[in-house]
Amino acid sequence: MNAASAIQILKPSYIREILSASQSNGVISFAGGLPATESFPLDLMQQAFNDLTQHSDLFQYAQAQGYDPLLTFLRQSYQTLDSHDLLMTSGSQQGLDLIARGYINPGDKVVVEYPSYLGALQVFQLAQAQLLTVPQLGEGPDLSKLQQLFASQEVKFFYLIADFHNPTGICYSLQVRQGIAKLCQQYQVTIIEDAPYRELRFSGETLPLVSSYYPQGAIVLRSFSKIACPGMRLGSIEAPRDWIQQLITVKQISDIHLNTVLQYVLLQLLTHAEFPGHLLKLRQLYADRHDLMLEQIQSTMGDRVTVMPVSGGMFLWLTLKQQSAVNMMNLASQALEAGVAFVPGAVFTPDQDGLYASCRLNFSHSSAADICTGIQRLAKII
Ligand SMILES: Cc1ncc(COP(=O)(O)O)c(C=O)c1O
Repeated sequence: MNAASAIQILKPSYIREILSASQSNGVISFAGGLPATESFPLDLMQQAFNDLTQHSDLFQYAQAQGYDPLLTFLRQSYQTLDSHDLLMTSGSQQGLDLIARGYINPGDKVVVEYPSYLGALQVFQLAQAQLLTVPQLGEGPDLSKLQQLFASQEVKFFYLIADFHNPTGICYSLQVRQGIAKLCQQYQVTIIEDAPYRELRFSGETLPLVSSYYPQGAIVLRSFSKIACPGMRLGSIEAPRDWIQQLITVKQISDIHLNTVLQYVLLQLLTHAEFPGHLLKLRQLYADRHDLMLEQIQSTMGDRVTVMPVSGGMFLWLTLKQQSAVNMMNLASQALEAGVAFVPGAVFTPDQDGLYASCRLNFSHSSAADICTGIQRLAKII
């Protein structure tokens, strides 16, 4: 049977291939965007799981927007504006999909960074959006290029990851955040701010969301995958109330509603007295792994590569200094044979074309010993 034409334009997922290859024995993987499995707060959820048999109501059909007590708690902790509301989603990935289904017509223009999160690029491509790219500088997207795009094209959305970007790990400066919001307001471009790594800051001060400077034109996607566990598939969308109403309709058509049982467990986790302590430990663990990976790269690859420290999240972005000499796409296969996996930079571009001298390295998932061995293997190849 022929697949729908929209799906035929999607490139095969390199990440899926590399992830399955990297799961073979002996391969150390810096490829996936995986949190540390040993950090999952299962003990803090134990009581909630035990109590489930007392709550048959949680196993009944429910409303599409989400589990009411959880929505109430989150509105308070996010300080959701009266004009805005929340919708619970199956991870922030479903949030992206619902926005695309609810708001993107074929040919609509969406600006993404170069590079950007592959999962978002694929959602927009499946919706047949026209993707336009803005280059990324050290403190966020290049504002003058962004203005040129907005001034010359009728752009509907700007998709961004301001806190610990996937794949580059960078965090936008305050000035860039304000600058983006101002441009989006001026040119009436809606912001989609994807913030799954925001709570994973291990140094420096938390900065306001880009959306906080233009809330009436912004959608914020949040995720519990990185601070609880990804297997629970829990996230949320925050947006102006009438947009949320529209998205609730799409969600209802898509899957009726999100799993209420796990929303209940999530609420018990978030309100657990030891949850703040869990977050502190998680940030410390990632800070240590980040520092170790950076130090190993510097001591083994030194002047052959550029890599900037990051202040949170799960990724480092490594670029070869001799840019023309090597294509990371080819190097990735050689590296797999040598027992180490990473994701080449080209995968994070709409056409999987360009950024050949760069790659993404995940530091959150591997043990200290694996970080040392994996980076040594990589250094030999490079
Ligand atoms: C930027 C970004 N958005 C969304 C997601 C999807 O997250 P979730 O597990 O919440 O669906 C990821 C996952 O890695 C991500 O990096």
